[in-house]
Amino acid sequence: GASVEVDISDLAPGELRTVEWRGQPVWLLRRTPEMLASLNATADLADPDSAVPQQPEYARNTHRSIQPEVLVTVGICTHLGCSPVTLPQGTANTSVPANWQGGFFCPCHGSTFDLAGRVFKNKPAPTNLVVPPHKYLAATTLLIG
Ligand code: FES
Repeated sequence: GASVEVDISDLAPGELRTVEWRGQPVWLLRRTPEMLASLNATADLADPDSAVPQQPEYARNTHRSIQPEVLVTVGICTHLGCSPVTLPQGTANTSVPANWQGGFFCPCHGSTFDLAGRVFKNKPAPTNLVVPPHKYLAATTLLIG
């Protein structure tokens, strides 16, 4: 079918894994407590409350996920579809916002996203990254789609 079942029991804190769903890369990131804390810095975000429906209703929260630590998001920039890359906290890059807490950077036109895939203002990407429909079949078994 169109759904993908993923065992995330061995997804380590801080680890980003990519799985394919409907021909798209879906990122699974197990956020550390520090990464989750970084999501409270919302001042420079274009849509901090995820008002634009880029996610299912159950992921319309600060962490944009079901389990707070596990981000599930489509790894495709919402501008023109390039592949953002991770940039850790403290990265020296003139394209990232001041006090960069870590997140995703699109090398094509410089859009930046936080660790919940929320887009920062003043960059071409108009919306947050897409959170695909997903649910947990068990605590560490994820069904995407
Ligand atoms: Fe990502 Fe343009 S495609 S910023």
